Amino acid sequence: MSSPTPAPLNPEPSSASARPVPAHQLDATPSDPIIKVENVDFSYGDTPTLKQINLTVPRNQVTAFIGPSGCGKSTLLRCFNRMNDRVPGAGIRRGRILIDDEDIHSPRIDPVSLRRRVGMVFQKSNPFPRSIAENVAYGLALQGPVSAKQTQEIVEESLRAAALWDEVKDRLDQSAYGLSGGQQQRLCIARAIAIKPEIILMDEPCSALDPIATAKVEELIISLGSRFTVVIVTHNMQQAMRVSDLTALFYLGSLIEYRPTMSLFDTPRERLTQEYVTGRFG
Ligand SMILES: Nc1ncnc2c1ncn2[C@@H]1O[C@H](COP(=O)(O)OP(=O)(O)OP(=O)(O)O)[C@@H](O)[C@H]1O
Ligand SMILES: [Mg+2]
Repeated sequence: MSSPTPAPLNPEPSSASARPVPAHQLDATPSDPIIKVENVDFSYGDTPTLKQINLTVPRNQVTAFIGPSGCGKSTLLRCFNRMNDRVPGAGIRRGRILIDDEDIHSPRIDPVSLRRRVGMVFQKSNPFPRSIAENVAYGLALQGPVSAKQTQEIVEESLRAAALWDEVKDRLDQSAYGLSGGQQQRLCIARAIAIKPEIILMDEPCSALDPIATAKVEELIISLGSRFTVVIVTHNMQQAMRVSDLTALFYLGSLIEYRPTMSLFDTPRERLTQEYVTGRFG
């Protein structure tokens, strides 16, 4: 990893590049990175939550974050679109996060525009009390004028990409609440895709779904991986194995091991990884 001069960060000026990067955190350095996390410490108030995280997310691949409850997976995910800005007293204390080589906390970055580039799908599907089509089209109007015909095309394209079109094409004007849980989650993915983000963050997107709906969403995640950069948090190690190219294991706010998924599960290098993937804790 290069040692660029860090931009000043709140509240303590960063000396990120001065700190050595632990070797095991460099194992998965991709050739086409889109997100670079450099020596990041994050706290809620005075409580340190992430410690010296270094990690590079590759473009147009699926990266999974795994680890026991409370280890900081969601916190790191939410850093990528600055969702943590909304939590009073929370923030990055040292280090920086770059997307396409730009510090996302730079004054040049507008958080609202950032969130258009970095979409998010939550654990619990959250459709709006509107029709299926309106749910998908929701973010489009916020981006600028768009004709009815364009909207219709984008709705169809997004629902097809979310593997939902065939199930809903005859009821686009009906309420999204009439869909099953799995369909609602795919609808939320269609809504995220419609505004054409570069990165899609997913925080345990299948945890409320039954095995059949989970399988559909997993297939969808795999298919999205060639067109978007996907970062997914999951508690399900089999799911990480099925959908992701790279996996990062976190423990108590630290990144323990980050490698191509199959290598991490088949030949873990760290004792903690070995114990976690064999179910000895977590
Ligand atoms: N808004 C918040 N304010 C204060 N502390 C928080 C907040 N959100 C998370 N934390 C704390 O930060 C730590 C990391 O939480 P985080 O939600 O990132 O963990 P996680 O790995 O996603 O866990 P889980 O698997 O249970 O979702 C936990 O100790 C949690 O209690
Ligand atoms: Mg979480």
